[in-house]
Amino acid sequence: QANERESMYLVSEYAQTYFSESLWERESGKAIGLTYFKERGFTDETIKKFGLGYCLDNWDSFTNTALDKGYQLEFLEKTGLTIVKEQAGGESRKFDRFKGRVMFPIHSMSGRVLGFGGRILTNDKKAAKYLNSPESEIYHKSKVLYGIYFAKQSIAKEDNCYLVEGYTDVIQLYQSGVKNVVSSSGTALTPEQIRLVNRLTKNITVLFDGDAAGLRASLRGIDLILEQGMNVKVCTFPEGEDPDSFAKNNSYEDLVLYLEENAKDFIQFKTSLLAEEAANDPIKRADTVRDIVNSISKIPDRIKKEIYIQECAKIMHISEEVLYNTLAQIDKKGA
Ligand code: CTP
Ligand code: MN
Ligand code: MN
Ligand code: MN
Ligand code: MN
Repeated sequence: QANERESMYLVSEYAQTYFSESLWERESGKAIGLTYFKERGFTDETIKKFGLGYCLDNWDSFTNTALDKGYQLEFLEKTGLTIVKEQAGGESRKFDRFKGRVMFPIHSMSGRVLGFGGRILTNDKKAAKYLNSPESEIYHKSKVLYGIYFAKQSIAKEDNCYLVEGYTDVIQLYQSGVKNVVSSSGTALTPEQIRLVNRLTKNITVLFDGDAAGLRASLRGIDLILEQGMNVKVCTFPEGEDPDSFAKNNSYEDLVLYLEENAKDFIQFKTSLLAEEAANDPIKRADTVRDIVNSISKIPDRIKKEIYIQECAKIMHISEEVLYNTLAQIDKKGA
C-alpha cells in the first residue's frame, strides 16, 4: 500500500526532525544528548550530517507533539515510534518507544528515514544498550545497511566497502575520513544487504570488534559475500577496541595505515584463526581444512577458486590434490 508506506515515511521523517531539534534546542537534550555525542568525539557537523537526535525522557512528548501536528496514531504505531498499551477498563496509554535515548536515524539508499536505533545513556545492565525500530512496512532490518546513503559515492569511488558492526563505528570512521563504511547493525549479515554493496563495488573489507564475540558467526557472513562473487578481506582490532574507539584514538594516517597493514585476505584470516585453535590436533586440523575448502567452494569464479586452493595447500601443508578431492565432495553434496 503506497499511501500507507508514504504516511509511515512522513512520520519517520518528522520524528527525525523532532529528535534532532530536541537535541540542539531543548535544555535536557543539550545537557544529556548533545553532551553524550560530544564526549564520543562527534563534531557538530557530524551530528548534523547523520541526523542524530535525542528522545526526551518524558513518557509521551514526541507522541503528543506529533498528534498535535496532525500525524495519525495509526502510523506512529506502525512505525513503532509510539507504543500503545491497553489498560484495565478499556483505557489505553501511549508512550514514546525511545524515551531517554540518543537517536540514530537509519536511512535508505536514497536517503529516506526508515527507522531508528536508540542508545541508552545509563549503565543499566538490565536494559538493552540499543533499542531498534521494529520490522514494519518500511523497515526491514535484513535489507538495510546503516550508513549506505552517506557512503555510496565513496564506496564506488574507492571501489571498496568497509563493513563494521555498529552505528558509532560508521560515524567515527566517516568523521575520520574513511567514508566508504556501512554497518549491518548487530544483525547477522544477509544476502540482501550484500547485494546493496555489490551494486557499488566487488570488494568488501570486514572490520571486526576486538572482542571475539560473534567472530565465528560473522565468518558465516563471509561465505555469503563469496557466494555473490565478491572479494573479502578481514581486519581485526586490538583486544577491547572497535573501529569507533580506534578511529577516535588515532590519527587519520595511523588509521589508514592500520587498515592497510592488517586487512588480510579471507583465506589467510580464516586459516590463521582456525589454525591457532587446531594447532597440534590432527582431527581439528582436518575440520579446519574442510571448513576453509567449504568457503572456497562458494566462490563462483573457477580461476579464483584454483588460486585459493593453492594458497590453502601452502598454508595448511596439504597437497592440492587432496583439497581438490575435498572440494569435489562438497560440490557433490551441495548439488
Ligand atoms: N546492537 C543492538 N542491540 C544491542 C546491542 C547491540 O542492536 N543490545 C547492535 C547495534 O547496532 C550496535 C551493534 O549491534 O551498534 C554492535 O554492538 P556493540 O559492539 O555492542 O555496540 P557498539 O556499536 O560498539 O556501541 P557503543 O560503542 O555505543 O557501545
Ligand atoms: Mn515491504
Ligand atoms: Mn561488539
Ligand atoms: Mn562495538
Ligand atoms: Mn563501540
